[in-house]
Amino acid sequence: MGGEVTTFGSFILVLFLAGYLGQQYLPPPKPKVIGLDLGTTFCSVGVFHSSSGVVEVIADEHGRKSIPSAVSFTSTEVLSGHEAVELADTNPQNTIYDAKRFIGKVFDPEVMQQESARYPFKVISNNGSAEFLITTNRTFAVSPEFISSRLLLKMKKMAERQLGVPIHKAVISVPAEFDERQRNYTVRAAHLAGLEILRVINEPTAAAMAYGLHKVDVFNVLVVDLGGGTLDVSLLNKQGGMFLTRAMAGNNQLGGQDFTQRLLQYTTERVRQEFGVAPTVKEDIQRLRQAVEAAKINLTVQTSVTISVPLHLHTSEEDPGAPAAVLFRTEIGRELFEDLNRDLFQKILAPIETVLDEGHLKKEDVDEIVLVGGSTRIPRIRKLISEYFGKEPNTSVDPDLAVVTGVAIQAGIMGGSWPLQRSSVDVRL
Ligand SMILES: *[C@@H]1O[C@H](CO)[C@@H](O)[C@H](O)[C@H]1NC(C)=O
Ligand SMILES: *[C@@H]1O[C@H](CO)[C@@H](O)[C@H](O)[C@H]1NC(C)=O
Ligand SMILES: *[C@@H]1O[C@H](CO)[C@@H](O)[C@H](O)[C@H]1NC(C)=O
Ligand SMILES: *[C@@H]1O[C@H](CO)[C@@H](O)[C@H](O)[C@H]1NC(C)=O
Ligand SMILES: *[C@@H]1O[C@H](CO)[C@@H](O)[C@H](O)[C@H]1NC(C)=O
Repeated sequence: MGGEVTTFGSFILVLFLAGYLGQQYLPPPKPKVIGLDLGTTFCSVGVFHSSSGVVEVIADEHGRKSIPSAVSFTSTEVLSGHEAVELADTNPQNTIYDAKRFIGKVFDPEVMQQESARYPFKVISNNGSAEFLITTNRTFAVSPEFISSRLLLKMKKMAERQLGVPIHKAVISVPAEFDERQRNYTVRAAHLAGLEILRVINEPTAAAMAYGLHKVDVFNVLVVDLGGGTLDVSLLNKQGGMFLTRAMAGNNQLGGQDFTQRLLQYTTERVRQEFGVAPTVKEDIQRLRQAVEAAKINLTVQTSVTISVPLHLHTSEEDPGAPAAVLFRTEIGRELFEDLNRDLFQKILAPIETVLDEGHLKKEDVDEIVLVGGSTRIPRIRKLISEYFGKEPNTSVDPDLAVVTGVAIQAGIMGGSWPLQRSSVDVRL
């Protein structure tokens, strides 16, 4: 009798051990919840691997970790991301970008008119809501949330391909200034893509989480997000493990493309000085712009770059029909780039001062400064911010991937944890 119990007990113990050891040797479970950064110009998707505590930003089949936020319609297909951008030149009126600027917003007719004039595609008003008019072999209108849903679907598929499991749940980030309607329409876009949204988090909060600031003893965090076209500054305040947005300010006319434009003006002037005329051929101007953009990016790591661009200039007045092929070469030093943009860089401090004022804080009260957006790689901008605060900003996470990294961490928290996980993301949020 006693023996039987012992045998039975051993049997249980063996089962228990087998289960325990099995868990040790089984492959770790796949993340079930993805984190989505649906940006105005680029989107990314990430997951949190609870077994290793590592965030993986998922790459496409070419290894690219962000996809352009563009969707292009042809008579036979709807293309998203890089494939859509490839069609932007040949199919401009049906290639939609910047949909995030329109989602969930109600516009006055005049404002809508102005907005529409900025784009090669047609923006129409449906009782105050924006819609994009597409003309392939038929004409139809699509909503901003439909455009967003195609991008989200693309990212869902990238994640499914990488993880090898179907994905139905996600966490998504939105700008802190999005109102309830804009948030609702963003969630609606996810539903259209077959995704249930477990939580909507603010982009600056996500960026702070990317640095693990939800786990450490900080109170006031300032997030500076300088993207291609806009600057957003947020002052976060951590209370009971939760980040609250205490103040927001920004400049929607300041970003990386303005710095590129200054450099383009300068190089165009150099062409005029050297050859007597400015480039007029459309392809030349495009090539010059690309070279200048590449130079700007290189100048964040190198102190000097040489650009070299073949141009076709109408130098001869007697024969205006025949452009002369020339090679334009010039060296651009980092200091020159900084001089050309000095006044623009200085403008970054204005919204920082505004949020400190509104938050009733002195700059000494800011515990951590987090930089987001590609333009915050510019050394002069980092220096400006660190000199202003008298301390170094947090820059170890790629500023283009800080938001998606934080959203993926939040997705990991929402996805719950595995019994043996070594993750330290177990704080209350
Ligand atoms: C448009 O073209 C597609 C593919 O060529 C075709 O399937 C569709 O029926 C066409 N629609 C119209 C309205 O002509
Ligand atoms: C248009 O919007 C107004 C208020 O935003 C609403 O009252 C009205 O019902 C809407 N009309 C239609 C046709 O959707
Ligand atoms: C947003 O969605 C919630 C829940 O679906 C709803 O209760 C709320 O009225 C919506 N708000 C707006 C402004 O659309
Ligand atoms: C920028 O740097 C890359 C490699 O770091 C190089 O291939 C490229 O030619 C550089 N571009 C310019 C404009 O200097
Ligand atoms: C950045 O954030 C971490 C918290 O994860 C902190 O320990 C560190 O001191 C911060 N500052 C800098 C300049 O990296």
